[in-house]
Amino acid sequence: MIRIKNQSDFDNYTKLAKENPEAFWKEATKEFVWKKPWSKLQSGDFNDLDIKWFEDAELNITENCLDRHLKNNANKTAIIYEPNNPHEDPQQITYKQLHENVCKTANMFKDLGIKKGDVICFYMGMVPELLYGVLASARMGAIHSVVFGGFSSKALAERINDCQAKLLVTNDGSNRGNKTIALKQVANDALENTTCVKHLLVHKRTNEEFDKHELDQDWDKLFSKASSDFPAVTMKAEDPLFILYTSGSTGKPKGLMHTTAGYMTYAQYSFDNVFQMQDDSDVFWCTADIGWITGHTYFSYGPLLSGVTQVMFEGVPTWPDGGRFWEVVDKHKVSHFYTAPTAIRALEALDIELVNKHNLSSLKVLGSVGEPINEEAWQWYNKNIGKNNCPIVDTWWQTETGGIMISPLAHITEMKPCYAINPLPGIEPALVDTEGKILEANDVEGNLIIKKPWPGMARTVYGDPERYKSTYFSTYPGFYFTGDGAKRDEKGNYRIIGRVDDVINVSGHRIGTAEVENAINEHESVVESAVVGFPHEIKGQGIYAYVICTSEIKDKDKFKKQITDLVSDEIGRFAKPEKIQIVSGLPKTRSGKIMRRILRKVAEKQTDQLGDTSTLLNPEVVEEIIQGAQ
Ligand code: WTA
Repeated sequence: MIRIKNQSDFDNYTKLAKENPEAFWKEATKEFVWKKPWSKLQSGDFNDLDIKWFEDAELNITENCLDRHLKNNANKTAIIYEPNNPHEDPQQITYKQLHENVCKTANMFKDLGIKKGDVICFYMGMVPELLYGVLASARMGAIHSVVFGGFSSKALAERINDCQAKLLVTNDGSNRGNKTIALKQVANDALENTTCVKHLLVHKRTNEEFDKHELDQDWDKLFSKASSDFPAVTMKAEDPLFILYTSGSTGKPKGLMHTTAGYMTYAQYSFDNVFQMQDDSDVFWCTADIGWITGHTYFSYGPLLSGVTQVMFEGVPTWPDGGRFWEVVDKHKVSHFYTAPTAIRALEALDIELVNKHNLSSLKVLGSVGEPINEEAWQWYNKNIGKNNCPIVDTWWQTETGGIMISPLAHITEMKPCYAINPLPGIEPALVDTEGKILEANDVEGNLIIKKPWPGMARTVYGDPERYKSTYFSTYPGFYFTGDGAKRDEKGNYRIIGRVDDVINVSGHRIGTAEVENAINEHESVVESAVVGFPHEIKGQGIYAYVICTSEIKDKDKFKKQITDLVSDEIGRFAKPEKIQIVSGLPKTRSGKIMRRILRKVAEKQTDQLGDTSTLLNPEVVEEIIQGAQ
């Protein structure tokens, strides 16, 4: 395995990865258990898009996450499960127990008729059974598609239909602070709009009453009968491992497909080198939900591949009080803590006593992911949580990249607030101007691209290779376009600025403007709408909707509630617009395209930077929009 220990290792590995990628990745993969080792490193490029890594290898990723550790570390704790309610006892799950539970779950899925290549959709809270399910899917060669528990029944049905999932696994409900979310009801509703699902497997967590469905199966009943012997199925390197949906610039979500050997390699390599867990007693805690890519790579796979102990947390950062994260750090002696800027900003706004009453001296490394971290939040995190003594790894990556691409390496790379700093060895980013010309110099700003394939990259958009090509490889032919803008300082350090496409990042959740517009347009009084992001103190960005209506709306509050309900229904509550402005027209170019730049500037309250509006088809609406701005 590659373990970078200092700056000179970093330089040497960067050079090796460039000059002799075969030797570099040989070293990164040498401790894995292969059923058949690889001999061919890579084929395909950003033109043919037939990208393969370690193509002739055969393996099962769960043998590397689980079986491999049983010889020496069977009784090491893999998961410390911290329930939502602090009065409920935590659970310790050893590698041996995790292995057993995963095997039982795989047998249960098999008994329900699931075969290699079938898709299993998970719509669950953060319970250990979700992890068992995901790993069981991988063990039996099925493909998992985890849908975040905040999505609505329509959004869930759309994702189930897109990948034709045969099995849907859910909880009766999920505990979120002082509330429960009725997941089973949403799953029942989703099944009204699907025909592919053969069974709805229900794991009981909240033990609240729920409506039965004819496809219901009971997790506990089947699990208790299942055998704990399930030999891992042999997978080819490029067999699909999972699909994960994310928003894009059109209305339909994209199912990014990740495959087996490359994803595994990149998950472990990036986990080991970014976080640098060195002592056996170190405890990792990634606060992300498994429903997002961070919960896939740095909860379900990376830490288990490396055989470390990690926390799984069911609850929310602000319940029973805003000190909950710090209480858990203290209780389980967390050494490596990885969270999102939105959580940091929310907790930063609270009484500092909520931090100071807990002992955070176990912390060694802090991480940030999902959106740009602003300077104030970075400084607060560094001073109050890290006590000026823990490196902060600001990790830039995406659902599409599979793992961390640009980030400091803890204790090795010098830090600079808000900077993701360096690409990992093996990754070659660049900045381009709008024409696609590579900006070679430092101290520049441009669009962020990646020049060469890497093992962890998504191989396609499930069922839609054309969309994969047009979204990522057509803007700058020959390069992968990230959709992000970035800047490089005079020393070559990267700072990610944010999305340059029609994607809004609300509390680290990617939301496509078109998806929200489609939902708003469902309202019978809406003619057209345009959605943009605006700066939000806690969430990073909030959603601002401009709406044209068929006739005058008398009860504006009622109308706005109907709009937010529609968005909650079509997507989920987290995508609700916070500001809704009724307008008589939208600024359009002569070819009829909405000038979003103007709408963004109004939403950002930067109306002095509107630029030239005289070429608009309808320049007069701009003044009206400015006057009515919120
Ligand atoms: C943003 C999350 C700035 C970025 C892992 C990217 C970031 C999108 C950072 C991907 C960071 C992620 N600094 N921006 N450290 N990390 N982003 O697919 O805009 O949910 O394109 O993956 O989040 O979001 P996704």
